[in-house]
Amino acid sequence: MALLEISSLGKSIGKAEILQGINLKAERGEILGLIGPTGSGKTTLLRLVNLLDEPSSGSILFDGREVSGRPERELLAARRRMAMVFQKPVMFKASVEENVSYGLRMRGRVDAMGGRERIKEALAAVGLSGYESRDANTLSGGETQRIALARALILQPDLLLLDEPTANLDPGSAASIDSLLRNLAGSRTAVILATHNMQQCRKLARRVAVLQEGRLVAMGKSEEITLPW
Ligand SMILES: Nc1ncnc2c1ncn2[C@@H]1O[C@H](COP(=O)(O)OP(=O)(O)OP(=O)(O)O)[C@@H](O)[C@H]1O
Ligand SMILES: [Mg+2]
Repeated sequence: MALLEISSLGKSIGKAEILQGINLKAERGEILGLIGPTGSGKTTLLRLVNLLDEPSSGSILFDGREVSGRPERELLAARRRMAMVFQKPVMFKASVEENVSYGLRMRGRVDAMGGRERIKEALAAVGLSGYESRDANTLSGGETQRIALARALILQPDLLLLDEPTANLDPGSAASIDSLLRNLAGSRTAVILATHNMQQCRKLARRVAVLQEGRLVAMGKSEEITLPW
């Protein structure tokens, strides 16, 4: 059974149909590319999957359970098994260390996970060793994005949702994040990677879903997909 199974998912805001009839599955160990032009609905879809917004129609099965339209308590349990890196990550007014460990603390797992040592590992993984005591609000855009990724990875989520995780990075940093993400292939985590960048999809994702104007217009192996635009 797929870890995530979305059926006939739709989202309307006012009179605008932002997403329509989305069917999608993601398996553990897979990186699924979600590609589409700006405004096609990638972020909206990730927010629905992350249970931050409610769909207007359709269903979301997470690990075999319906999670859309469920009470907040149930949503929280599912959300705790997911992590999302936002397109425009927000840092709390605190040190990098506190920002990276925020999710762990929220989930009561700082001690269980070995606290400091894990933070150190997570920072090393995104190429920002030694940044622990930096004020998170003084980081550059690219550093902020990498800290947001560290904050998500440290949770070892079952489902990792990445919204343009390398869009603000120079080619060298993007390549090092790509190789970090490639290591997630074959792990217990399912990754959905939203991007404009087909080259990145080809490098990382086995399957790619193509969004256009709120609809999935193609789905297939990343090396075989041709974009309709
Ligand atoms: N809260 C909202 N109210 C009104 N329209 C919205 C809202 N959120 C999203 N939209 C619209 O829905 C469409 C899809 O937006 P979304 O952010 O999901 O696109 P995207 O594929 O992530 O784009 P980008 O590549 O630029 O990040 C856009 O036209 C956007 O303006
Ligand atoms: Mg977006």
